Amino acid sequence: MSVQSHRRMLVILVAAAPACSRVEEPRLKSPAAVLGQAVDKSERAATDANSESLTLFESRILPIFQSAKPSSCSECHLSGVDLKDYIRPTQREMFASLVAAEMIDPEKPDDSKILRFISRRPERPGIITDQVRQQEFEAFRAWIRAAVIDPDLLTALDKAEPIGPEAPDEVIRHARKDRVLASFIENVWTEVGRCAACHSPDRNQEQVNKHGEQVSWIKLRDPQGTLNYMLEADLIDIENPELSLLLTKPTMQIEHGGGQKMVVGDRTYKQFRRFLDDYAAVAQGKYTTSQQLPPPGDEISVVTDIWLKIEGVPANYDGMLLQADLHRWTETGWSEQRVATSDRPIFGKGNLWQHSLSLTAPRDSAWAKEIVGEKLPPGRYLVKLYIDRTGKLEKDFASELGPEDLVGEVEAESDWPAGYGRMTVIGFREE
Ligand code: HEC
Ligand code: HEC
Repeated sequence: MSVQSHRRMLVILVAAAPACSRVEEPRLKSPAAVLGQAVDKSERAATDANSESLTLFESRILPIFQSAKPSSCSECHLSGVDLKDYIRPTQREMFASLVAAEMIDPEKPDDSKILRFISRRPERPGIITDQVRQQEFEAFRAWIRAAVIDPDLLTALDKAEPIGPEAPDEVIRHARKDRVLASFIENVWTEVGRCAACHSPDRNQEQVNKHGEQVSWIKLRDPQGTLNYMLEADLIDIENPELSLLLTKPTMQIEHGGGQKMVVGDRTYKQFRRFLDDYAAVAQGKYTTSQQLPPPGDEISVVTDIWLKIEGVPANYDGMLLQADLHRWTETGWSEQRVATSDRPIFGKGNLWQHSLSLTAPRDSAWAKEIVGEKLPPGRYLVKLYIDRTGKLEKDFASELGPEDLVGEVEAESDWPAGYGRMTVIGFREE
């Protein structure tokens, strides 16, 4: 051996030494550190130092386990699963456990289920994640190929322990990003039309000139892009979802250049909270059982440009939230379920209330398929008027206006045309 390569060896040894003595540092009291020791004591001694599988395990699998970065799984799973869930401190335990869980197929190693999990790619993968995925895949495949022919591992199959994510399947399913996006679309995206005049880049040039690019938080025809942007720009507060700017701005809980666009407890607010509270819980991995998952809302809705105006509203109701529910005339009388609704504070000085309608339908009903057309069939409707006279929505945003808040019922017959200039007008009537 030349002097030079001797010196290089020394350098390597010296460089390696602090790593061992670092065991004392608190930083290394992580599972990863404990790992390192376990590998040293139990496995090195027992295994042939030249074992290819052990070398691969230490050089390529453990670094994935120790990495602070999320694995490629996070591209589709917001939480609930991570590749680290399938790694164990020792390769004996890991191999035995993955075989027992049918994640490794010892007969056909390249067909192992874990490799299939790792090779799942979204349609539009991120460049970085795709590199990570490639590395993970190659590391696992190389190790699995070596492990299935390692006699030391094949004779230790009794070392199996439970392996894989702890969360039940329902929770994993709920935390999938495609599910999260579906909830975003249903609860938030469907409502942002209310904000578009000032926040959509195709319509807000004036607002941008005056206030800056950040007012364009709606990404045109791109709900995923909009959600991503909201997260990047901190419009969503994952620690305290109720303090998200997405809520506090339009409710004027803090100053908002657009004024009051919704109030605490109204339908849009409830929907935004439904998404935000759930998103925060998923992102923080707070769900551990399927019972904790929020049940899906039993009503779906779409915002329309059909306007309803109520004249003659007593001024003493100024500022209170009025909710108008529309029931349609059917062969058997007024429909039991509302078919449209609208809620907004009363403008007392003008003895006036007006707002656009949202069509509403029980989930999975025939009407639910129709409402996407944003049309209300012409004809007779009963408009039930509820007023929040006690401020109960603000006290408890989840509360609903019920029979005790009903102040009157008005019949209306209209073709329900769309457009601000073509409102259906009714007179207020109190019972
Ligand atoms: C391209 C998106 C995508 C990636 C990346 C992805 N998954 Fe999934 N995962 C899914 C989908 C979609 C399902 C539901 C599949 C189904 O029902 O067949 C799922 C389901 C699961 C399940 C539920 C049980 C099962 O057998 O279906 C587990 C566990 C899981 N994935 C683990 C992982 C792990 C671990 C990774 C990373 C190594 C990962 N996934 C990467 C999309 C992905
Ligand atoms: C009439 C115009 C207008 C409407 C409609 C409007 N806004 Fe705004 N909004 C503004 C202006 C102007 C700003 C910039 C000044 C400010 O931050 O208050 C703003 C700022 C915001 C911000 C902060 C953006 C940032 O990155 O700083 C959020 C969040 C927001 N609005 C949410 C909403 C929501 C949600 C709606 C619909 C329910 C809505 N706005 C409707 C005018 C409007």
